[in-house]
Amino acid sequence: MLEKFERYPLTFGPTPIEPLKRLSAHLGGGVEIYAKREDCNSGLAYGGNKLRKLEYIVPDALKSGADTLVSIGGVQSNHTRMVAAVAAKLGLKCRLIQEAWVPHEDAVYDRVGNILLSRLMGAQAQLVDDGFDIGIRDSWKRALAEVEAEGGKPYAIPAGASVHKYGGLGYVGFAEEVRAQEKEMGLRFDYIVVCTVTGSTHAGMVVGFGADGRARNVIGIDASCTPAQTRAQVLEIARNTAELVGAARIEDEDVVIKEDYAYPVYGVPSKETVEAIRLSARLEGMITDPVYEGKSMQGMIDLVKKGFFPEGSKVLYAHLGGAPALNGYSYTFRNG
Ligand SMILES: Cc1ncc(COP(=O)(O)O)c(C=O)c1O
Repeated sequence: MLEKFERYPLTFGPTPIEPLKRLSAHLGGGVEIYAKREDCNSGLAYGGNKLRKLEYIVPDALKSGADTLVSIGGVQSNHTRMVAAVAAKLGLKCRLIQEAWVPHEDAVYDRVGNILLSRLMGAQAQLVDDGFDIGIRDSWKRALAEVEAEGGKPYAIPAGASVHKYGGLGYVGFAEEVRAQEKEMGLRFDYIVVCTVTGSTHAGMVVGFGADGRARNVIGIDASCTPAQTRAQVLEIARNTAELVGAARIEDEDVVIKEDYAYPVYGVPSKETVEAIRLSARLEGMITDPVYEGKSMQGMIDLVKKGFFPEGSKVLYAHLGGAPALNGYSYTFRNG
């Protein structure tokens, strides 16, 4: 589906799929859980899901002749870390708007984890006070205008690399990669579980797995806590991406999102999220974070316990990265 699109390689290649045997057994053994390790996809600043998206955006950025990548996210955004890494790798400048998306008062929240890494890679990270919103923001538009006013040529990458014309392509590729791996492994996944916030990861999967009739088997776990906006954004990106790649039209029902796990608010883990993070760490040595993957892990565990996945199902958990943010939550995990 992606042959006609240019791709700039930023990842190691296909990401490994591993069975989570101890987690599956712990949850009763009725469902076989596997993880696809997008968190281990690159040597660029710890990797993660944004790199698959950026692989299809970078050729456009290079063609534009830009000298500065401009993007936006929360203070502990994984996405802005990835943009900083890509800018460093390409020899471009990087300007980041880091909004106060999370009402988190850890004293070092704006010094550690993702933002530390972005600064280390030479990005100019500007903290602003605006709260959580996955849409297009004035602070980001101002940063773009400032780069121009200073004589630079900005290239705009929206939050999560999502509302960009090529933002959905990377996760169409994910689905194609899974199909090839399924052939090699001699199995077929019944469900794919994915954390969803700015939407293009989920949207790309809906289009990619839609090609073999599994769009509705992609179970999005909302971590935004603004699920109506996330749902609308996933649907819009999926429709645009389907048109772009020449796939069949996406229906409203093709976007399946579970809204019950993002509480109390974006970026703040509930007691149940923290328990899920501990469980995955202690049973599998697999590290998830309090903002994204901890919530999708919690959602998947709860859905297994509730019997949402029929007995014998094979469930693929897409681990999208995000562990560096854990450093901003050291108090929560002070006793493990
Ligand atoms: C680790 C991690 N998981 C999940 C997501 C959600 O992906 P998306 O924004 O494409 O919905 C993100 C980014 O927002 C992320 O950094």
